[in-house]
Amino acid sequence: MKVKLGHIELQNPVIPASGTCGFGREMSEWLDLNGLGAIATKGTTREARYGNALPRIAECPAGLINAIGLQNPGVEEVIRHEMPELRKIYRGPVIANVSGFSIEEYAYVCERMDKETDAAIIEVNISCPNVHNGGMAFGTSAEAAAEVTRAVKAVTTKPVYMKLSPNVTDITAIARACVNAGADGLCLINTMLGMRIDIRRRQPVIANRYGGYSGPGVFPVALRMVNQVSKACPGTPVIGCGGVSSAEEVIEMMMAGATAVEIGAANLKNPMVCQEIITRLPEVMNELKIAHLQDIIGIV
Ligand SMILES: Cc1cc2nc3c(=O)[nH]c(=O)nc-3n(C[C@H](O)[C@H](O)[C@H](O)COP(=O)(O)O)c2cc1C
Repeated sequence: MKVKLGHIELQNPVIPASGTCGFGREMSEWLDLNGLGAIATKGTTREARYGNALPRIAECPAGLINAIGLQNPGVEEVIRHEMPELRKIYRGPVIANVSGFSIEEYAYVCERMDKETDAAIIEVNISCPNVHNGGMAFGTSAEAAAEVTRAVKAVTTKPVYMKLSPNVTDITAIARACVNAGADGLCLINTMLGMRIDIRRRQPVIANRYGGYSGPGVFPVALRMVNQVSKACPGTPVIGCGGVSSAEEVIEMMMAGATAVEIGAANLKNPMVCQEIITRLPEVMNELKIAHLQDIIGIV
């Protein structure tokens, strides 16, 4: 089940996605973190953030809308407390997810993470739809995406993966801009901007009005985008994400072009899903006569 994400070897391709496993502690009550391929930590900003007003989750038939608003304790607390605590329970690769509201903030937080943590990869979220004037604004313009990439690459020595938004007309243009600006890898997709209305209250369900939709309903869209981006950027590792909740879907994502696969909303429904997928993967590989997962990456 081993895969090579750039120069980093993962024992398997299964990674809980940023924002759905905190900094590992809660998830460790349900499963042994050391069985995971890697862990993507909660989006971290310069300052601590309480996030958006409640309610900030709306359940949907095939997924959920979230508008958490990047709640996190801020980069200094993540360095001082969260990352060392994670290390007490987890030995594998950490993917440090970083967010920001300006190019300077992205660079600052990435530089701190680069210097003060042993994260294997820095994942730069330029695709958060749940905060005003931040996040997604950088991921919906090729120029802005390239500018963030350059600024972050200038201050980091670790591999930088840009996390892309599906809320664009042509995701390959953004992906290429990031790669040309020096990105070592790409992660896609983040959530799709969505909305639900409480028809009895005549109000949006989410206090923030709109939120990011993800879960099983977005899987075909994520798969298509992973396929397009992996073909548009040959040689650049892609982490596939969006709607995955089974071993079969992990394999489908890899056939589309993903080297590793992040699992998001599915963890909220079943906190053991990553472990269950890892246990099931060898059976599915056997059925499909796949000797090494690395062999199926981008075959379709
Ligand atoms: C509750 C929640 C919080 C999230 N927080 C973050 C975050 O802090 N940073 C980030 O890059 N993505 C965040 N995401 C997006 C996920 O990492 C993932 O890209 C997206 O949900 C698509 O995958 P899924 O369909 O498996 O949920 C969050 C998603 C959810 C559901």
